[in-house]
Amino acid sequence: MDIRCSLLVLYMVVIAEGGGLACNWGLQATHPLPPKIVVKLMKDNGFEKVKLFEADPEALKALGNSGIQVMLGIPNDFLAPLASSVRIAEDWVSQNVSSYISKTGVDIRYVAVGNEPFLKTYNDTFLQTTLPALQNIQAALIKAGLGRQVKVTTPLNADVYQTDSSGVPSAGNFRSDIHDLMISIITFLSDNGAPLTINIYPFLSLYADPNFPVDYAFFPTSGSNISTSSPVVDGPISYTNVFDANFDTLIWALEKNGFASMPIIVGEVGWPTDGDINANNENAHRFNQGLVNRIIQGQGTPKRNTSPDIYLFALIDEDAKSIQPGNFERHWGVFNYDGTIKYPLDLGGGNTNQTLTPATGVRYLARQWCIMAPEASNLDPNLPSSINEACTYADCTSLGYGSSCGELDVRGNASYTFNMYYQTMNQQKGACQFSNLSAITTVDPSQDSCVFKIMINLGRHEQTTSPSTSSFGITCNQDSSIAFAALVSSFIICFLS
Ligand SMILES: *[C@@H]1O[C@H](CO)[C@@H](O)[C@H](O)[C@H]1NC(C)=O
Ligand SMILES: *[C@@H]1O[C@H](CO)[C@@H](O)[C@H](O)[C@H]1NC(C)=O
Ligand SMILES: *[C@@H]1O[C@H](CO)[C@@H](O)[C@H](O)[C@H]1NC(C)=O
Ligand SMILES: *[C@@H]1O[C@H](CO)[C@@H](O)[C@H](O)[C@H]1NC(C)=O
Ligand SMILES: *[C@@H]1O[C@H](CO)[C@@H](O)[C@H](O)[C@H]1NC(C)=O
Ligand SMILES: *[C@@H]1O[C@H](CO)[C@@H](O)[C@H](O)[C@H]1NC(C)=O
Repeated sequence: MDIRCSLLVLYMVVIAEGGGLACNWGLQATHPLPPKIVVKLMKDNGFEKVKLFEADPEALKALGNSGIQVMLGIPNDFLAPLASSVRIAEDWVSQNVSSYISKTGVDIRYVAVGNEPFLKTYNDTFLQTTLPALQNIQAALIKAGLGRQVKVTTPLNADVYQTDSSGVPSAGNFRSDIHDLMISIITFLSDNGAPLTINIYPFLSLYADPNFPVDYAFFPTSGSNISTSSPVVDGPISYTNVFDANFDTLIWALEKNGFASMPIIVGEVGWPTDGDINANNENAHRFNQGLVNRIIQGQGTPKRNTSPDIYLFALIDEDAKSIQPGNFERHWGVFNYDGTIKYPLDLGGGNTNQTLTPATGVRYLARQWCIMAPEASNLDPNLPSSINEACTYADCTSLGYGSSCGELDVRGNASYTFNMYYQTMNQQKGACQFSNLSAITTVDPSQDSCVFKIMINLGRHEQTTSPSTSSFGITCNQDSSIAFAALVSSFIICFLS
């Protein structure tokens, strides 16, 4: 066996035994990739678990018999009705969980009740309903005979716990305004053998505080000692990155309240690639590579040495997400909106060059763009209102300072907005008529980092029922038996070579 073969085999063993890769699949896009293509994308890249934010019928159908484990989310708007009656919860579970498990073969493992319901920006709206909704969904799962197979959880933002002004994890505890509620929820989850799910965002630490030490937001590159940023020293432990420190703040909070061994899932963590000065491919590659390496190696934190399940945020960009948190919000994907690759993330965790596989079978609109007409004047009084109108309906979040199209001149800027509108409107007739300021071109107007998109052709995807392709890559192991088969065959290949 040569060295390349042993590395390959080692990798297969690690993947077969480890928790595997997991990701978030959000659907807030004007032109979402067809679910079948997304499921194949996940399988081709070795994702074994996925978190959905809603029980979308098409996504669930595509996940049927895929071997991918599902955490199924319930939006916050459902919390009040679900909290109000067990009957409503039973209907919800029957229609959105039981039927997909029994009829469609969807491997649902968790129901995630609500999404970050205790965020400060929600003004306590969901404080009263989250726990009762959890209880009713749990009761409904038991009644449906799914109590063992499907666990409840509720994904919370890491702002449910905090440390004191010293900033050390050992000072961690739950936020005082929701302390008792958190204990009730954790007690309930613990009694039902269910995990606590927390979303941790090092990017937002950096975004919120211009003085935040940049290196501390990332994982140290293996082999290097962190000398660039001053670590946070907590007793015998030196924290070199905010993810570890944040996670261990939670462990301390749990320990202090009698839940030292509470299982934890990291429901969301990732790095965006556009819409902010710190959101770019280089930083996202650096952060997510560090994260994936840890997942593959099963690396934990100083306070808990086993790796939790970690769901990467996110699989693909979503151009219809609210930008209330910031322009970066539409750019969290490891893949672009169309399943193309943004940066060469190595899913082998540094042991192999297991590069990403892009989506296949994507159909696009015609190769044409809407731009500012060559004869139109920069000083045309209709220009500002035209740009404004385009950006009201289309995604212009790549135009800001420090973003991928932040260096365009006035004409480039106008062209970008016109094109986004034109593509978002499916290149319809009349969608490239901005007071005679625009024109259609077949010459790609993209410049440097600024990509002028062509949208996905939703119509052509609807007409064609794509054949259910089951390509089986070396990283793609739906369950341990297949992983084992792959392992055996890779041994055979190695011995033969
Ligand atoms: C789930 O089930 C309920 C019935 O209780 C239904 O009203 C709802 O629309 C279903 N779908 C989703 C996405 O929650
Ligand atoms: C929360 O309260 C603030 C101030 O009262 C208000 O501006 C904001 O719209 C509220 N947000 C929600 C989600 O209700
Ligand atoms: C750690 O980094 C510093 C500064 O780059 C260097 O001087 C030192 O030798 C390094 N130590 C180890 C153990 O690598
Ligand atoms: C992976 O490929 C890149 C680029 O081809 C190369 O620079 C790097 O050394 C390779 N890494 C390993 C572990 O083979
Ligand atoms: C381009 O558009 C963006 C967003 O509307 C704006 O912030 C920026 O100042 C514009 N740049 C130029 C050169 O007009
Ligand atoms: C566009 O140009 C045509 C022909 O030059 C003219 O008749 C029309 O009024 C113009 N439309 C606008 C909105 O400026």
